[in-house]
Amino acid sequence: MNTIDPDLLAAAKTAFDRAYAPYSRFQVGAALLGTDGKIYAGCNVENASYGLSRCAEQTAIQKMVSEGVRGFSKAVVYTLASPPSSPCGACRQILFEFGENAEVVMVNDQNETRVFTVSELLPAGFGPRDLE
Ligand code: THU
Repeated sequence: MNTIDPDLLAAAKTAFDRAYAPYSRFQVGAALLGTDGKIYAGCNVENASYGLSRCAEQTAIQKMVSEGVRGFSKAVVYTLASPPSSPCGACRQILFEFGENAEVVMVNDQNETRVFTVSELLPAGFGPRDLE
């Protein structure tokens, strides 16, 4: 079943087009539906000092949180990979902080999709509750 939100997909594709990935040549666009109903999108931003590169999901989270929003219910990750590329381990942890129960749709240009919740991607994850 294709549960993808068209506005989120469009935002993820726009972010994908803006990816700065001259080293890996692997572009990623991510879009989050914030709890305020707004969309926060981001792309991967690489660096000549490779280890300083940032993933698309992390860019989107930083944008959302810096606009004062601390939760999201849905995420779309758009790549040209088949099967559609999945968030890396670091991104799973960062997504977990703000959207443990959020749905993550991975999609590519052929409209192949994979859908998981953040908790499915990071079972038994460490989060804010663990520090209460
Ligand atoms: N990348 C992301 O943007 N998100 C992920 O979850 C996986 C990897 C980026 C990082 C790097 O710019 C490129 O994809 C290749 O690893």
